[in-house]
Amino acid sequence: MVKLHDLQFVPFISEEEIGTAIDKVSAGLNQDLANKNPLFIGVLNGAFIFASEVLKRFDYDCEISFVKLASYEGTETTHEVKELVGLGEEVTGRTVVILEDIVDTGNTIEVLIEMLVEKGCLTYKIATLFYKPEAYTKKININYIGIEIPNRFIVGYGLDYKGLGRNLTEVYQLKPNDMTNLVLFGPPGAGKGTQAEVLKQKYNLVHISTGDVFRYNIKNETELGTLAKSYIDKGQLVPDEVTINMLNAEVDKNQEAKGFIFDGFPRTEAQADSLDKLLESKGAMVSAMVALEVDDEVLVQRLLERGKTSGRPDDADEKVIRNRIKVYYDETAILKNYYQKQDKYFGVDGVGGIDEITERLSSVIDKL
Ligand code: IMP
Ligand code: MG
Repeated sequence: MVKLHDLQFVPFISEEEIGTAIDKVSAGLNQDLANKNPLFIGVLNGAFIFASEVLKRFDYDCEISFVKLASYEGTETTHEVKELVGLGEEVTGRTVVILEDIVDTGNTIEVLIEMLVEKGCLTYKIATLFYKPEAYTKKININYIGIEIPNRFIVGYGLDYKGLGRNLTEVYQLKPNDMTNLVLFGPPGAGKGTQAEVLKQKYNLVHISTGDVFRYNIKNETELGTLAKSYIDKGQLVPDEVTINMLNAEVDKNQEAKGFIFDGFPRTEAQADSLDKLLESKGAMVSAMVALEVDDEVLVQRLLERGKTSGRPDDADEKVIRNRIKVYYDETAILKNYYQKQDKYFGVDGVGGIDEITERLSSVIDKL
């Protein structure tokens, strides 16, 4: 692992794989451009190593020059390309080969080709060491591609993060976020609250119970709380957007958290989508939906037992209890399906001692 400024990177593409990719690109160039005396144009700064490797492998007469363009700030594209060093060479009537370290959105090559065409260049080819097909937004054909990569930020082999990392001889990617984010489910009486408390301690997670978040915001009259209350007072459902904004604020409050236990949210597929987006915007994701499974008859007995001492009227009436359980399964089925599709659903037997159930939950979490 390497650390550049504030970020950690892990190995992604080996020197050997890069070498093979450059051999492939160079073979194509040798085949297509023999005796055409091409002018290679490397795009600085990132392409300097790739350009030199391609040039060493090119077997015929050729020339090389460089332009300097920049579109990235940190790990994000700015969608605006700045020309820092222009092209001095005569390109009219020449065969030009653009050498790029990486084609991402394609903004850079688009600007470069406009420049070339304006200067009278009619024949051009594009060769890039890396290419992010998911990020590419242009129609321009890229003639020679070394390695296609997913839409991730990489460094090394000429590529930088805020100026650092160009000297790495292999390519690294941003270290994937290792947060554990759980969506916890359990029917009434399954012991979800108890387990949430234990898991929170054991894994150093922050427990976000939507009910608590609502009560907190309303009691403290935060802007979102006041907004939520205005709906509740009118007997209306609080819009998802308001809830998500509250959860977002909760997540932001806990920057150092190892992960979160979401409890009471999501309830619908639309909410699950919103939660995915929220976490994605923080470079994280839902790790798993964990649902405690307890037989209905056991739940009914437990709740009736609890009703004798808790004084909660909804625990005293068997009909009410059975309906609450039914509502739970109706709601949960949608989400079970949602997370099952992503291989993220884990049902855990919720009958047994507290420690025993924690054990079962842990064996799921430890494998995430
Ligand atoms: P484009 O203009 O969006 O195609 O981006 C191309 C330029 O952005 C490259 O020449 C790089 O300088 C920079 N770039 C794009 N993706 C990365 C990356 O993952 N790491 C480092 N620089 C990148
Ligand atoms: Mg570049």
